[in-house]
Amino acid sequence: MKKILINFAHPAKGRSNINAQFRAAVENIEGVTINDLYANYPDFLIDVAREQKLCESHDVIIFQHPFYWYSTPAIVKEWLDLVLEHGWAYGKTGTALKDKWCFQAISAGGDATTYRVDGANQFTIAELTSPMRATANLCLMEWLPPFAVMGVHRGLPTEQVTGHAEDYRRLIIAIRDGVLDKDKAQQAEFLNANLDDIMLRA
Ligand SMILES: Cc1cc2nc3c(=O)[nH]c(=O)nc-3n(C[C@H](O)[C@H](O)[C@H](O)COP(=O)(O)O)c2cc1C
Repeated sequence: MKKILINFAHPAKGRSNINAQFRAAVENIEGVTINDLYANYPDFLIDVAREQKLCESHDVIIFQHPFYWYSTPAIVKEWLDLVLEHGWAYGKTGTALKDKWCFQAISAGGDATTYRVDGANQFTIAELTSPMRATANLCLMEWLPPFAVMGVHRGLPTEQVTGHAEDYRRLIIAIRDGVLDKDKAQQAEFLNANLDDIMLRA
C-alpha cells in the first residue's frame, strides 16, 4: 500500500468550492495524509524538518491547489524553496525523494479551450506546470501529469463537481492500492482525461 501525502494549499479555504469538495472526497481514505499548508503555516514560517519527515514517510506527494496566476498559491513556492534542500532533495547525496511519485491536483477558472496555443491563455497546462515537472525530475521523482479541472469560473453544475471529486477519490485509492499504470499515466495529458485507461488490467 502506497502512503499518500496531499499538500493542500488554499489561502481562503472558507471560500473554496472546488478544492474544499475535492479535499472532502479524499480526507478519510486510509493511507492518505492531508497537510494543510496555509492552516499549518499562516505566517509562512515553514517547519522544514517536519515537512521533510512527512515527505520521507510517504510514497506519493501531491500538491492540491487552485491555479493562481498560471501557477500555485504562494505558499507552495515557499514550501519548494525551503523544503527541497540541497543534499536532501537534490545534489550528490540528495536522494530523499528518489522514486516517490509527484503530481498536482488543480482547479482552474479558465476553460480547457483557453489553455491552448491558439486560446486566450496562449499556453497549455502542461507548459505552465512544467516547472513542477522539472523540479520533480531534478529530485529524481516520478512525475505524473496533473489531475486538472478547468472552467470552474463558468460555475460547473453540482453533479459535474461531484463527478470530478469522485474521480479524484478513485484516482487516489488506485494509486494507494498499486493499480494505477504509471507508465501509461505519464503519457496522458491529464490524469483524469480517461481514468479507466490508466488503470492496470487484472
Ligand atoms: C489570485 C487568483 C489568481 C487566479 N489565477 C488564475 C489563473 O491564472 N488561471 C485560471 O484559470 N484561474 C485563475 N484563478 C481562478 C481560480 O483558479 C479558481 O477561482 C479556483 O480554481 C476555484 O477553486 P476553489 O473553489 O477551490 O477556490 C485565480 C483566482 C485567484 C483568486
